[in-house]
Amino acid sequence: MFIVLEGIDGCGKTTQTARISEYIASIVGSDKVLATREPGGWDGGEAIRELVLRGNLSSMWSEFFLFMMDRCEHVCRVIAPAILCGGVVVCDRYSPSTLAYQILSRPDVGDAAAEYMIGLSDVIGLPKPDRVFFLDISPDEARARLDARGNANSFDVRGREYFERVRAGYERIMKTSSDRWVKIDAASAPDEVFDILTRHVDSLIGEGEGINR
Ligand code: TYD
Repeated sequence: MFIVLEGIDGCGKTTQTARISEYIASIVGSDKVLATREPGGWDGGEAIRELVLRGNLSSMWSEFFLFMMDRCEHVCRVIAPAILCGGVVVCDRYSPSTLAYQILSRPDVGDAAAEYMIGLSDVIGLPKPDRVFFLDISPDEARARLDARGNANSFDVRGREYFERVRAGYERIMKTSSDRWVKIDAASAPDEVFDILTRHVDSLIGEGEGINR
């Protein structure tokens, strides 16, 4: 089983990925659960993570291909083997991040680029998540959370409008894949978000497809 958490920076995905992975482990056993993330969730991926997150690439397309390359290695080395063994993979970001951040956020890039990326992902054979949990929050609230942590953050660099476009991008993707997507109001208290997640996960695990116990 393959579960993905998505959302703009500051939506709380990373905390919820850790919590929901622990919760799933308490049901199916910790040896059956793999919590991972993109970019950089594979042995050697830290170098790509550094390169792409340092933000000094000149071309958005370099960014795009690096995220895709990172994903290919991550799938091949980490995600696909775990799914094949009947485990549950919980991934903090996946293909929708590239679609929302690198493509749909860009007013100068048309729909053909989105079609290209979706087609490319199919050709590569990237596995499709069974569920994508979209933790939705406004850029203002997300920024307030990140500012409260006291460090410089991506809002300082990219600006609020960029994240508005990324959020709208997620909404667009959700419209075309709504059977696999669940939108959760991430402005709620973290415990509430977690409760909602657990309810969805309970029914997914109840269906039991693809889990070896
Ligand atoms: P990270 O420090 O992991 O932040 P977060 O906890 O918000 O995920 O950095 C990931 C950043 O990389 C985030 O700004 C989103 C961006 N990103 C893309 O732009 N495209 C992608 O395909 C992926 C996986 C991430």
